[in-house]
Amino acid sequence: RSRQGKAGMNILLTGGTGYIGSHTAVVLAEAGHQVVLLDNLANSQAGVAQRLGALIGQTPPLEVVDVLDTVRVRMVLRHYRIEAVVHFAGLKAVGESVAQPLTYYHNNVAGTVSLLQAMQAEGVRQLVFSSSATVYGQPQYLPLDEDHPTGATNPYGRTKLHIEHMLQDLAASDPLWRIAILRYFNPVGAHPSGLIGEDPNGIPNNLMPYIARVAAGRLPHLNVWGDDYPTPDGTGVRDYIHVMDLAEGHRAALDHLARSPQPCEVFNLGTGQGTSVLQMVRAFEQASGQRVPYRIAARRPGDVAACWADPAKAQRVLGWRATHDVHDMCASAWAYVRTSAAAALVA
Ligand code: WQD
Repeated sequence: RSRQGKAGMNILLTGGTGYIGSHTAVVLAEAGHQVVLLDNLANSQAGVAQRLGALIGQTPPLEVVDVLDTVRVRMVLRHYRIEAVVHFAGLKAVGESVAQPLTYYHNNVAGTVSLLQAMQAEGVRQLVFSSSATVYGQPQYLPLDEDHPTGATNPYGRTKLHIEHMLQDLAASDPLWRIAILRYFNPVGAHPSGLIGEDPNGIPNNLMPYIARVAAGRLPHLNVWGDDYPTPDGTGVRDYIHVMDLAEGHRAALDHLARSPQPCEVFNLGTGQGTSVLQMVRAFEQASGQRVPYRIAARRPGDVAACWADPAKAQRVLGWRATHDVHDMCASAWAYVRTSAAAALVA
């Protein structure tokens, strides 16, 4: 029985050993749900399941399955009597998607079709989908609300937009579906235990893990991609959101599905606050006590100057809002990179 006294649901997390998936697993388990992880381990490690066990009391089952394997996904849905699915599994490197669009359409779009076919065949019709603010393309106004026009500017973003359209069409074809599309802004930070966090393979594309490795002395300096944007200090402004706030947003969305009259709804998950690259560098130095040397470099192709969320709809409909500040985002990211660095030394 969950703390609220309600019986929890059996929930399948595709991409469950990944960054957002693993943090969401902790929050859902703590809310009394039974979580099952499904992951092909293309960009994460099976060991995350054991670390989740340490955090939630028992190790969640991990099915090493690719969402493209419809038959095996159906077997998992049936075996664990899954009632709802949170779909994180997918490739998410913008630059890589430009170089390998077919890999992205296959894994992200065809993978989601396969998952949805498995769910439909097994009568599982509650879904939370991990989308991205990147579907808004170049902001025409700020803050971005859910009515802002969509128009992805790279193959990765287009896969997310195609999937959103698929989900809208599916819900229109069968109103028994209950779907929440969550558009993440910039997820950062780590669980306060330091046991799970963002650990990209190779050189990080994203700002926060890169800064964390510079602070840890594992990279020499940060390259600031442009300081000539029309922003207060000339560097890019983004809406960074603590991954624990993001995880709570998924719990709130799942609770909402059970009572929602709408077959398919879209929510921005952001803080509503913009932070520049240089502001984030300074915040990280304060939170870690380490220097983060940087060099101003050329703009990165495809970057927008500024992007931040209007989170009013999620607050109104889901009763959810972000509570962690930038200091906590940096402090938790710093604690994780030290823990995982220490663990790597021991390994
Ligand atoms: C943030 C800011 C950069 C690295 C991307 C995807 C989005 C989502 C989140 C998947 C920008 C600057 C960065 C660096 C820098 N991913 N920067 N030096 O581009 O806002 O969003 O990640 O869902 O879909 O598009 O995040 O962290 O890459 O960049 O100056 O080494 O930091 O220019 O202003 P972004 P980011």
